Amino acid sequence: MKFSEDLLSEIRDKNDIVTVVSEYVSLKKSGKNYIGLCPFHSEKTPSFTVNPDKQMFYCFGCGVGGNVYTFIMQKEHMSFPEAVRFLAERAGIILPEEKEDPEYLEKLRLKKKFYEINRIAARYFYNCLVNSDQGVRALNYLKSRGISITTIKSFGIGYSLPDWEDLICYLKAKGYKETTLEKAGLAIKRKNGEEFYDRFRGRIMFPIFDIQNNIIGFGGRVLDDSKPKYLNSPETEVYNKRKNLYGLNFVKKHLVDDRILIVEGYMDVISLHQYGIKQAVASLGTSLTSEQAKLLRRYVKNVVVAYDADTAGISATLRGMDILKNAGLNVKVVMLPKGSDPDEYIRRFGKEAFLEKVDKAYSLIDFKIKHLENQFDLKNLQGRVNFLNRVVPIISEIDNEIEKDAYIKKLSQKLNITEESIRLELKKTSKTLPVNGFKHNKGIKWNDNKERLKIITQSANIKAERDLINLMITDKSYYKRIFQEIDIDFFSDEDHKQIIKAISKGYENKNNLNSSEVIDYLEDERLIRKASLIFSGEVFFTETERVLQDCIKTLKTHKLNKRIQSLQDRLKKLEKQGDYSESKQILAEIKTLQKQTRII
Ligand code: CTP
Ligand code: MN
Repeated sequence: MKFSEDLLSEIRDKNDIVTVVSEYVSLKKSGKNYIGLCPFHSEKTPSFTVNPDKQMFYCFGCGVGGNVYTFIMQKEHMSFPEAVRFLAERAGIILPEEKEDPEYLEKLRLKKKFYEINRIAARYFYNCLVNSDQGVRALNYLKSRGISITTIKSFGIGYSLPDWEDLICYLKAKGYKETTLEKAGLAIKRKNGEEFYDRFRGRIMFPIFDIQNNIIGFGGRVLDDSKPKYLNSPETEVYNKRKNLYGLNFVKKHLVDDRILIVEGYMDVISLHQYGIKQAVASLGTSLTSEQAKLLRRYVKNVVVAYDADTAGISATLRGMDILKNAGLNVKVVMLPKGSDPDEYIRRFGKEAFLEKVDKAYSLIDFKIKHLENQFDLKNLQGRVNFLNRVVPIISEIDNEIEKDAYIKKLSQKLNITEESIRLELKKTSKTLPVNGFKHNKGIKWNDNKERLKIITQSANIKAERDLINLMITDKSYYKRIFQEIDIDFFSDEDHKQIIKAISKGYENKNNLNSSEVIDYLEDERLIRKASLIFSGEVFFTETERVLQDCIKTLKTHKLNKRIQSLQDRLKKLEKQGDYSESKQILAEIKTLQKQTRII
């Protein structure tokens, strides 16, 4: 894709470098130029300058410099074409290729409208919070939680009045249709199917921004203990909770070191921010997704997870870790005292204490071990043995032998069990089967021997399913061919079905897929491992056509056989009960099916 010079300069003209850079760096006017702290290296006195006349930036400290495209490429970790698109969108410029795509244009129009509506709504909510009689209660609640008016302003926090049609009336008067408000996620249709009511009523409103500072949705919190505590915008043309992180737009302005904190809640982000820790994002009430991990990777290499210290928080942490790791991030975990969350902790113990926790964050391995420690009674021998059984697989994951050794020593001391016995246990788990091809692009290690064995000794049918999956990603035409002959229900393995669904998703808007892209559509860590294993399998497709036919045949036969088997079971069961009424019919059916298997 080549962009014309005209287009490039139009985009450049409409993205004033001072404005763009200001979205990331606090700039001050100094003579003709603007200066600020360099976002590309850490410094205490500003040596980063932006020149509005030349539309260039330069850092006298580290020597980086360039135009608005270079800045975005470096700051957003984008390629040149990506930066061009990014800035075009920012300035509302439609690229030539997009001009011819009516579907795209319609989407763009809707998006813009929703951004606009959301912004007006957010302003309105803010006004209700600070300027209305009813807002006083909400304002007091925020005060009681230590949130200052400055913080309220910078996060755009607001309040939705308790009435049923307050926002709708306000926006209708501004010319927006109720059906549009419904699509934007702000209004809900009444059961009678004609009237609408406000989705958010009597709640503290947190606008959710994307990285370009568009408001894409809202989270609304009740003022008391009623349920649900939060209501969030539904998925809309602009809001996708899997792809966004709450607070990232603020964080990217303040990145001082190569590190972002991930917390669970809106309140945690806001509270930390107010205490001067401006590097926290929240994952919008879902467990972390690979899209979110990739988004983070665009800005930093290191993440520190600081989830609530409750069971839900811990399991969310464990789930999120691998997703983050697989996106190429270094992950550490903060362990807070039982029952507390970052907001509560920092308010009780202060910024320094929290930062100390962050600096002393655990590695993934340490976190897993610590977490296990709390589950067993290490005072008695049985408890220690049970603990050890669970710890050994974790230790065996460590690649580095020196590190592994250190853990063994530490464990031996802690448990009062000899190093030799621990090593012996370790040996048992690492006795792996000589199978090739377990390495793959995501670097996930295959540790589960049982799972491995199961796959090796798989039945012909499962093997056929795996080969078909591999064929599917080799070429879209195979994918199409396969589904002309069979449908997804012919696959007996539930995981295979999920993987195929991911492949279908991949092919929705592309003609070529590679296995690492398919992995991106899978969320579940176990599925990712399984898919990686399948894709890494050595499948020799010299006679693709024959393999394809054979596999399909296997699947068809298998499905018929399964049906026959279940009919035979049923027949047996009925006859055991002395019921022969259906025998004839079932037998006939079995016969037909058997005939079918012969002609596949
Ligand atoms: N969440 C949600 N729906 C709920 C509960 C929680 O969407 N019914 C999401 C919200 O994004 C919330 C996050 O999960 O911010 C974490 O939940 P929680 O810790 O309960 O919320 P906090 O933001 O910490 O709120 P508070 O401290 O006021 O309880
Ligand atoms: Mn909380």
